[in-house]
Amino acid sequence: MSAYDLSIKKVAETSEIPIGKMKVVKMKEKDILVANVNGNFYAIDNHCTHEGGNLSKGSLDGNIVTCPLHGSKFDVTTGKDLSKPKSWFQTHKTIDTKTYEVKVKGNDILVYQRSSWGV
Ligand code: FES
Repeated sequence: MSAYDLSIKKVAETSEIPIGKMKVVKMKEKDILVANVNGNFYAIDNHCTHEGGNLSKGSLDGNIVTCPLHGSKFDVTTGKDLSKPKSWFQTHKTIDTKTYEVKVKGNDILVYQRSSWGV
């Protein structure tokens, strides 16, 4: 295995993820969320950086996905954490989420996953 590993995988066809929709795909045992924002596709980790909420079960409004558990919001185009989730009287910590490069070739959506450890 090289010190720098690149995986490329066809994860879906464009018709499977209409504008404003999301889909979870698996790459190397990781759940990755692919979202269609105005005809452009973006990919981020599917698990919320707060407590691992399943972002695909949340909502997508434009480029903002909202976690179904405590309401944290992430920009799917950049991975930026846009709001801190609140529960009861405390605000929880979240961080930006990982993004993945996406390319469309013909009708195929390809996701690129880079890793220095092959995971
Ligand atoms: S797990 Fe996502 S906001 Fe708490």
